[in-house]
Amino acid sequence: MALPIDQFKKLIAHSKEYGFIFQSSEVYDGLSAVYDYGPYGVELKNNIKEYWWRSMVQMHDNIVGIDAAIFMHPKTWKASGHVDAFNDPLIDNKDSKKRYRADVLIEEYMDKLEAKIQKEVDKAAKRFGEKFDEAVFRSTNDRVLRYQEEHGRIRERLAQAMTGGDLAELKQIIEDLEIADPESGSRNWTDVRQFNLMFSTQLGNIAGEDGKLYLRPETAQGIFVNFLNVQKTTRQKIPFGIAQIGKAFRNEITARQFIFRMREFEQMEMQFFIRPGDQKKWYEHWKEARMKWHLALGTPAGKLRFHDHDNLAHYADAAVDIQFEFPFGFKELEGIHSRTDFDLGAHQELSGKKLQYFDPELQENYVPYVVETSIGCDRMFLAMMSEALVEEEVPGSGNTREVLKLHPALAPIKCAILPLKRNEGRLVGLANDIFNDLRLSFQVQYDDTGSIGKLYRRQDAIGTPFCVTVDFESLDGHTVTLRDRDTLEQERVPVARLEEIIRKRVDMKHLLI
Ligand code: GAP
Repeated sequence: MALPIDQFKKLIAHSKEYGFIFQSSEVYDGLSAVYDYGPYGVELKNNIKEYWWRSMVQMHDNIVGIDAAIFMHPKTWKASGHVDAFNDPLIDNKDSKKRYRADVLIEEYMDKLEAKIQKEVDKAAKRFGEKFDEAVFRSTNDRVLRYQEEHGRIRERLAQAMTGGDLAELKQIIEDLEIADPESGSRNWTDVRQFNLMFSTQLGNIAGEDGKLYLRPETAQGIFVNFLNVQKTTRQKIPFGIAQIGKAFRNEITARQFIFRMREFEQMEMQFFIRPGDQKKWYEHWKEARMKWHLALGTPAGKLRFHDHDNLAHYADAAVDIQFEFPFGFKELEGIHSRTDFDLGAHQELSGKKLQYFDPELQENYVPYVVETSIGCDRMFLAMMSEALVEEEVPGSGNTREVLKLHPALAPIKCAILPLKRNEGRLVGLANDIFNDLRLSFQVQYDDTGSIGKLYRRQDAIGTPFCVTVDFESLDGHTVTLRDRDTLEQERVPVARLEEIIRKRVDMKHLLI
C-alpha cells in the first residue's frame, strides 16, 4: 500500500536521509521551493528522463529532439503572451504578511470538501461491508450530496472568475467561504492583484528595458521558434513532433508541498505539428498515449485520472491534465494541450518571418496547429517516490522495513553485490570481480560495511531490485544467492547468468513495447 497522507513528511525525510533530495543551500537555511538532487535522486531522475525520451524520440520515426537555450530573445515572451498574460492572482494577508495564490486558497477549500466526502464514503464502506455500493451511496446520501453541491457551485464560480480575470470576484469567493490564512488563521485580506510569474535578469552590455531577459517559464517556445530549422534539416513531413527536456523557471507564489511546486524545475515537452482541423484527432491520440506511458510503470489505474481544464490558458482551445493521487490528493502531473496555431502565428507576426509549412499532398502553405504534451520531471519523480515508499513487516522476523518499490527500470541502483564477510579475502575478491563485471552493464554497488541484514535494509530503502550475496559456497561452485527486493525470495544462480537474469528485469525496453 502506498503512503497515507500523514506520512508525506516521512517521504520528505526519507528523500533526504537516503540521498535523493536536499534543500538547496541548506547551510544557509535553504532557499524556498528550490531543491537539489542527491546521488540516488539524480539516477532516478535520469531514468525517468530516459524513459520519456526513448518512448518519444527513439520509438517514433516522426519525433525528433532538440536542446534549446534557456535564454531567448525577449520578444519571444511578448509573442507567446507570457509578458501580458502569464499571471497568477495574488492575495496578501495583512496580519501575517504572508502571500498566497487566491485560486489555490479556494482550491484547497474544495480539496477539504472532497476529503469530507471521502470520509463519509469510507465510514459507510466500513459499516456496510461487502454489501456497500459506492455509486448508490454517493448519489443518495444527504451529507455527501450537500458537499458535492457546494463543491460544484464553488468550482463554477472559480472557473468563471479565472477565465474572465475577475479579481474582485476571487476576493468575494474567499470572503464568502470565510477562508482564513492557513498559517495564522487571520481573515484580514488585501485585494487580489495579478502577479507575473517570469523571472527576469539583465544583459551586461545593454542597459534598461532593451537588455531585459527572461528565464524561460516553459521549454515549449524554444521548440516553436526552431520549428522550421528542425523541419528543414530533418525533412520531416507533417504530422511530426519535436521533443525537449530542460529547465524552466517560475516565480511561484505558493511554493509548498516539497518538489510539487518549485521555482526552478524541469519539463519534458513535446510539440506535435499537425494540419489545421486535425487537432481533435491528435489531442485524443496523445491523451491515450500519455496515459499508457504512465500505466506501463505499474501505477494503479485508480491513482491516475483525466481532469479537463475549467479555465483554458491563453494559448489553448482544449486542455486536459493527467492527475495523480499524491499523498495530498489528486493533482496535475502532466498537461495535454491543443495550442492551435497560436504560438507559430504570434511568432510569425512579431518577427515578420514566415513560419509556414508547404504541404506537398495538399499543395498549400499553412501555419501548422500544435498538440503538446508537457510533464514536469520533478512531479513525476515525486509521484514515483510517493507510490513506491512502503513500510511493511518482514515476514517471520517481527521487524519492519522501509522499501522503495520503484519499477526496476527506474531504480537508481540495479544490483548490490555484498560479500557475506568483509574480512574474508577470497569472498571480497570474488565479490569485487562480480561487481567489476556487472558495472559494465548496469549501475551497481559494492558494499561490505555491515552485517548482511543491515546491508539489505539499506538497499531496500534506496529501491535496489536485486542483491547478490557472495558466500563460501560461491567460491567452489561459482554460484551466488540473488535476493528479490519485493518478494524477498532468494535463489541460487550461477555467476555466469547474473547479467542475463538482471537485464531481463531492469531493461527499459519492456516499458516501450
Ligand atoms: N508548455 C505548457 C506548460 O508549461 P503547464 O501546465 O504550465 O504547461 C506543464 O506545465 C507541467 O510542468 C505541469 O503539468 C507540471 O508537471 C510541471 N510544472 C509546472 N509548474 C511547475 C512547478 N512550479 N514546479 C514543478 N513542476 C511544474
